[in-house]
Amino acid sequence: MSIPLYAPIDLERLPKHVAIIMDGNGRWAKQHKLKVAMGHRAGTEALREIIRNSSDIGIQALTLYAFSTENWTRPVTEVEALMQLILDFFQSEIDELDEKNVRITILGDKTGLPEKQCAALMEAEKRTGGNTGLRLNIAINYGSRAELTQAARKLAEKVKSGEINPEDVTEALFEQQLYTAGQPDVDLMIRTSGEMRLSNFLLWQCSYAEFVFPTVLWPDFDLKQYHECIAEFQGRKRRFGKREE
Ligand code: FPP
Repeated sequence: MSIPLYAPIDLERLPKHVAIIMDGNGRWAKQHKLKVAMGHRAGTEALREIIRNSSDIGIQALTLYAFSTENWTRPVTEVEALMQLILDFFQSEIDELDEKNVRITILGDKTGLPEKQCAALMEAEKRTGGNTGLRLNIAINYGSRAELTQAARKLAEKVKSGEINPEDVTEALFEQQLYTAGQPDVDLMIRTSGEMRLSNFLLWQCSYAEFVFPTVLWPDFDLKQYHECIAEFQGRKRRFGKREE
């Protein structure tokens, strides 16, 4: 079965790890004279399509920023709507994702979420834990500084207990303490809606990422937009700090 491509992309040179900041749901809702929750609902539809296609074209890892530690400060009705969408998403998609051999990992502190959401996320991780296809990471109640601080604390505890010495702390060992342990670094970071910020997302993992900032609002981000971002990534020269040949 041939996979339709909506921009000239080379399936042999795909970014291993794509991360997306799905920005612009609020503005999309305003444009359509809808409540903000409807923007997030439309955003969930876009996300379904991007996940499915990432699996189909052979992306190794896809990380989506669904809810940051700072998002708790939004109006209660919006937070409740997002929590409900997250729950609905896991309940409605889990069978198909599992069938597609997708392995789900949650980045962030699940214990800080309402009980139902926490249980659904844990169940999704457990059920898909042995899958070997797309690594789907969903960041929920996530903040990168908190992730890094927690990694440092875990290592400090290992030193304190005598399990390791301070000189054993290497980049590789540090990486193993992160939510994304063992996964490739982010190659391509996409943020929609024209904003050009990282907003406390994957600070370590994005060290050598290529950034693409399409102006489209997240609910309007479709497969054409996605493949255009990948094509742009494939057109970039990556040097990883080295001098060009
Ligand atoms: C940013 O748009 C988007 C979010 C804070 C939430 C993203 C969540 C989803 C797409 C759906 C829920 C997730 C799952 C996993 C089902 P914004 O509201 O900040 O947009 P604005 O800047 O235009 O106001």
